[in-house]
Amino acid sequence: MVTKPAPAALGRRDLSTAPLLVAARGGRPSRVPVWFMRQAGRSLPEYRALRADTGMLQACMTPDLTCEITLQPVRRHGVDAAILFSDIVVPLYAAGVGVDIVPGTGPVVAKPVRTAADVAALPDLDAEQVAPVTDAIALLLRELGATPLIGFAGAPFTLASYMIEGGPSRNHERTKALMRAAPEVWHGLMDKLVGITTSFLQAQVQAGVDAVQLFDSWAGALSVRDYRQYVLPYSSRVLGALADAGVPRIHFGVGTGELLGSMAEAGADVIGVDWRIPLDDAARRAGGTRPVQGNLDPAVLFADPASLEAEVLRILDEGRRTPGHVFNLGHGVLPDTDPDVLTRLVELVHSQNP
Ligand code: CP3
Repeated sequence: MVTKPAPAALGRRDLSTAPLLVAARGGRPSRVPVWFMRQAGRSLPEYRALRADTGMLQACMTPDLTCEITLQPVRRHGVDAAILFSDIVVPLYAAGVGVDIVPGTGPVVAKPVRTAADVAALPDLDAEQVAPVTDAIALLLRELGATPLIGFAGAPFTLASYMIEGGPSRNHERTKALMRAAPEVWHGLMDKLVGITTSFLQAQVQAGVDAVQLFDSWAGALSVRDYRQYVLPYSSRVLGALADAGVPRIHFGVGTGELLGSMAEAGADVIGVDWRIPLDDAARRAGGTRPVQGNLDPAVLFADPASLEAEVLRILDEGRRTPGHVFNLGHGVLPDTDPDVLTRLVELVHSQNP
């Protein structure tokens, strides 16, 4: 069993009143915590400057660069959490799977996984292979003061889709075909990915992250029946392995309105929600006991200030009718977003009663 080390062991900080952690545990925070998926990245000129000569995966495996990029949005926006700068394919890359992140495209897998032999050839992940990531976490804990650090991983389904399709996919057709045509290959691959994802998250917890998020970004492409049969058992195993880790577990996907009850069954503490359904409705669908995270449409950041404010106040209102609310976007910050709009959004959320 892996548990988060005691603060003293990490020589640091009391986060007992950190709004993110209070809200994630269903308590009453002093203000509504707010952070943004993809808060580090191309919306920030200081990020583009740092990344100019460095590939994405190289940046993820260079601790001082990872640390600095992670801190940029915290300094600039005053968000209530840092999220480790990394990517869902980092553990695959670290384990030796041929994968790259192609600018403007996303993850591309050199040799897509289609057969039982392909699955058998996949490596496991040893914690020392992600030493650059855990070293970056150690650097961050010294810099972050009272701001919690969120670690993350891709969930088995979303990783499996990249591995089977060979890259980003709109329809996930090869993935859905393989589940049915070759269930033993599917289940073998998912089993492998549970191991890699769990090891990656456990390494982050042991290094001292304060919360974790499991990104099942593309799970919303599935019917609820398929989700329950082909995906839920594996996400449950990942989240279950972290049940006693001592950190809140957030579980997020896009377009998951019909899946929220099943995703909640997978066992996370907080359910992330995209913009397609109201937060209070989402919280009910997720069983009515768990805090929720979300759910401003990232495209609304391009609207006029009055429309944006109205949307934020509506979401805060809906958030007050849930067991707990962590303000976020419904998906990642879009690259062309004006970062000053994000800074003002943080100020607005913080100015409102929780
Ligand atoms: O600030 C943060 O939220 C942490 C950074 C983060 C990245 N990737 C950095 C990144 C996080 C949490 C991720 C997770 C991730 N990666 C997910 C799940 C979250 C989601 O968005 O649904 C997924 C599906 C991926 C796969 C991936 N990696 C995609 C689709 C892309 C974008 C491709 C592109 O260029 O538009 C990437 C690359 C990536 N990951 C970038 C960043 C900042 C862009 C790379 C660059 O700056 O050149």
